Amino acid sequence: MKPVHLLSRNKHFVMAALSIVMAHVSYSKLTVPAIATYFGTKCRYEDVNLHLRDDILFVNKSLMGPPSAACKAVHLVAVLRHGTRYPTAKNIRKLASLYDLVMAEASGPAWWLEGIKSNWTMWYTEDMDGKLVTKGKEDHRHLAIRLAKTFPTLMSRDNLLGERIEFLTSSKHRCVDSVKAFQEGLHQHLDVRGLGFTHYVNDSLMRFFDQCQRFVEDVENSKTALKEVEIFKTSVEMEGVRRKMASRLQIPHSLITSDLVEAAFFLCSYELAIKSENSLWCNTLDEVDAEVLEYKNDLKQYWKRGYGYDINRKSSCSLFHDLFRRLEEASHYYRLGKATKAATVQVGHAETLLPLLSLMGFFRDKTPLTAENFSVQRGRKFRTSQLVPYAANLLFVLYECRDELRLQFFLNEKPVQFPSMGHPAPLYDTVRAHYSKLLQGCDFNKECELPKVNHMNTEL
Ligand SMILES: *[C@@H]1O[C@H](CO)[C@@H](O)[C@H](O)[C@H]1NC(C)=O
Ligand SMILES: *[C@@H]1O[C@H](CO)[C@@H](O)[C@H](O)[C@H]1NC(C)=O
Ligand SMILES: *[C@@H]1O[C@H](CO)[C@@H](O)[C@H](O)[C@H]1NC(C)=O
Ligand SMILES: *[C@@H]1O[C@H](CO)[C@@H](O)[C@H](O)[C@H]1NC(C)=O
Repeated sequence: MKPVHLLSRNKHFVMAALSIVMAHVSYSKLTVPAIATYFGTKCRYEDVNLHLRDDILFVNKSLMGPPSAACKAVHLVAVLRHGTRYPTAKNIRKLASLYDLVMAEASGPAWWLEGIKSNWTMWYTEDMDGKLVTKGKEDHRHLAIRLAKTFPTLMSRDNLLGERIEFLTSSKHRCVDSVKAFQEGLHQHLDVRGLGFTHYVNDSLMRFFDQCQRFVEDVENSKTALKEVEIFKTSVEMEGVRRKMASRLQIPHSLITSDLVEAAFFLCSYELAIKSENSLWCNTLDEVDAEVLEYKNDLKQYWKRGYGYDINRKSSCSLFHDLFRRLEEASHYYRLGKATKAATVQVGHAETLLPLLSLMGFFRDKTPLTAENFSVQRGRKFRTSQLVPYAANLLFVLYECRDELRLQFFLNEKPVQFPSMGHPAPLYDTVRAHYSKLLQGCDFNKECELPKVNHMNTEL
């Protein structure tokens, strides 16, 4: 097309041609479903950091800069969640039963239902079981590039070549693949070629929850630990969601279980996260429904990984100590004026990040999340969509500011103040003093060990 040439001949024709081009652009550009910010641990990172929807490599320097011009970053510990993944085999079975039910029973005039029935196929297979998808690799490649742009003196070519950046990961495939993708992104950005990728697998740091016997027994395997979630499944709020979905699909209400409602919610989330599609399935739910389903997932994380039980938080004691050991080492060497490690990048799970956040007192609500108080908890801090989307990241950054060391915390590339500390980047020693009880105690073996006598689950 030659618009200039056309312009001289026929203005109206040009306008028509332009509007076709514009229509094409807006058509091919993904419209993100309105419910995309409620998907909890299945949120896309760019739906939590909206400016990334337009430019995935954008870094807001005023948000991510040092606490003052007199400060320079001297050390970074980054605790990351793996990127976008396939559903687990268990969830894939739930998606399949929703699909089967809709194919067999749904009727009604909705245009999108027609589309599902004639054009959508159940393409998820059980062997996909939680593996990292292509988009998940992109998540980490892009995160690496943004972090290198944010902390150019730490995530530098010299530090990479000098092996002053350490990479740790959980043994799960999706985490190992994430850390490799992160390294690829970093090597590409820093134009490093021919250097191999090295990482260490450490499950006692990144999958501590599996190794904490008390947690496994009292929470993970307990039939009653998640009772608030069970109660919420039959709440008036959930009933409302079921009824609305039943009527949209014209399927008898009794056939729409809370599991199936959730399957539709997840299907919408997976089609968006994995295939960048605004799926027809998203039409089965509206924003009011999404808020209810988000709360259900937050309840689960709260009681299983967050403040619900003390052991959830305490199970992360080793990771907490490891974090401060790294900061301590960096500060020690810094005070001696020696070069040392610049950064640690460690990849785990939402189940790794939430207990650590809770142990350190971040995003704690005044009262517990329960099945009864959905409406009063609307403004809650513990909102997993914001906390642990795919590729979520906790950044602990040590700064040198005129002979003082300061520590700043960022969650998902936004600064967050340490609880009950008035400064955005308090003195490192002040932070240590604040956590002194945990630093002196919080012994993983002691917290996680079960009493010698045959342990009875007496909780609740
Ligand atoms: C960057 O962050 C600042 C807050 O520090 C905000 O005011 C500004 O809108 C952000 N810029 C973009 C492009 O998001
Ligand atoms: C099915 O997909 C085809 C090709 O994209 C489209 O033309 C058709 O309208 C779709 N059918 C329905 C019922 O949405
Ligand atoms: C994992 O990290 C912990 C804490 O830093 C350390 O004590 C342990 O030796 C490491 N384990 C492996 C297998 O490297
Ligand atoms: C939520 O419910 C719990 C118990 O059901 C109660 O202790 C708490 O105060 C409630 N929170 C609010 C904000 O009402």
